[in-house]
Amino acid sequence: MNKRYEIKKLAEFKKIVSDVFDWYEDNCNGEALVLALQGDLGAGKTAFTQELGKFLNIEETINSPTFTIVKKYPTKGGLFDEMVHIDAYRIEDGSEVKPLKIEEMLLKSNTVLCIEWPELIESIIPPSAVRIKIKITKNNTREVSVSQNSVK
Ligand SMILES: Nc1ncnc2c1ncn2[C@@H]1O[C@H](COP(=O)(O)OP(=O)(O)OP(=O)(O)O)[C@@H](O)[C@H]1O
Ligand SMILES: [Mg+2]
Repeated sequence: MNKRYEIKKLAEFKKIVSDVFDWYEDNCNGEALVLALQGDLGAGKTAFTQELGKFLNIEETINSPTFTIVKKYPTKGGLFDEMVHIDAYRIEDGSEVKPLKIEEMLLKSNTVLCIEWPELIESIIPPSAVRIKIKITKNNTREVSVSQNSVK
């Protein structure tokens, strides 16, 4: 999968979520879907995760798990049972990663993981992750590239 989008409104993230989920349905078999969300502060990584949450009918408010780093949300049926939102921004040392048990979550089926600041936990990001790069181009416009290179 290799696509580019120009996003002018938050709601347009839904189109990207829908395309990624279509790709997942056609190419995957229920294994965890990892979305590595890259972009500067304020680029829209949390906003993307919130739109994905709406798409999965998650009722809870999705805020950045800045201090807890990991937050799980049950979905209301559909393609995934659970969404895991990870914000690695505050991870300073590799030794902090293991206790979060993210590696175990990567092995669960029917789970989608949205990971902000994947650069900080790159060693545990699987090669099959979908890379979503968000760049602010002009006021309130985002260029988003979605790429996925390796099936396993
Ligand atoms: N077209 C757009 N796409 C995405 N976000 C937009 C857009 N227009 C405005 N925004 C605003 O930009 C902000 C993006 O903030 P968000 O918290 O999602 O960034 P982030 O990438 O998660 O940053 P951080 O690294 O601090 O976690 C939000 O306030 C959102 O409403
Ligand atoms: Mg964020």
